[in-house]
Amino acid sequence: MNNTELQSRLLDWYDQNKRNMPWRGCGDPYKIWVSEIMLQQTRVDQATPYFERFMEHFPTVHDLAQADQQEVLKVWEGLGYYSRARHLHAASKLVVNEFDGKVPDNWEDINKLKGVGPYTAAAVLSIAFQKKHAVMDGNVIRVLSRYFGIEDNVRTTKTKNIIQEYADELISEERPGDFNQALMELGATLCTPSSPECEVCPLQKNCVAFKTLRTEEIPYKSKK
Ligand code: ADE
Repeated sequence: MNNTELQSRLLDWYDQNKRNMPWRGCGDPYKIWVSEIMLQQTRVDQATPYFERFMEHFPTVHDLAQADQQEVLKVWEGLGYYSRARHLHAASKLVVNEFDGKVPDNWEDINKLKGVGPYTAAAVLSIAFQKKHAVMDGNVIRVLSRYFGIEDNVRTTKTKNIIQEYADELISEERPGDFNQALMELGATLCTPSSPECEVCPLQKNCVAFKTLRTEEIPYKSKK
């Protein structure tokens, strides 16, 4: 299977199976940014009601920047990892004061925002601005290590770099944001840590772990 075939299989599957999420398809970089901050440590189904509530209180980056910290923390209450809320709030002020109220659309500037690391930068740039930056989270690592039969310890930087290179190579030119979300979605719904649903996976045909019956061994993680 070449890259084009992999992309079209994955994107067709995504088009037919993607879950509804309130930020999907909205095209609003602010909402996409907030959603990706929430999704750093929280599952989609847990984050969704908090996202809705957050947007009722702070529908734009200006509303967030003007709020006081106590109010932001109050709305975040229950989600945990409160430094995310503090960083997001501080970053909203930077967006308003330094970037004319617009979430940056380039790697250098978006990385100036507190709470934004390589994962969030790639997610927002690809989903909100169709920039070709491949994301790598736990789901993507699982899908790609199985697909390519990567048996090395995925906790090491070396292995993560190898997987990032595969992702950079594979990402769709036309639909980078959907491509990233499709890989994450596949990892969250079919290519699960145990008992993955290979029978219905769009990538089964070329998946090394499937073909060699090693989905339970890959990805390999050393003890911490
Ligand atoms: N996990 C983090 N961001 C996601 C997204 N945009 N879609 C699906 N899963 C995600």
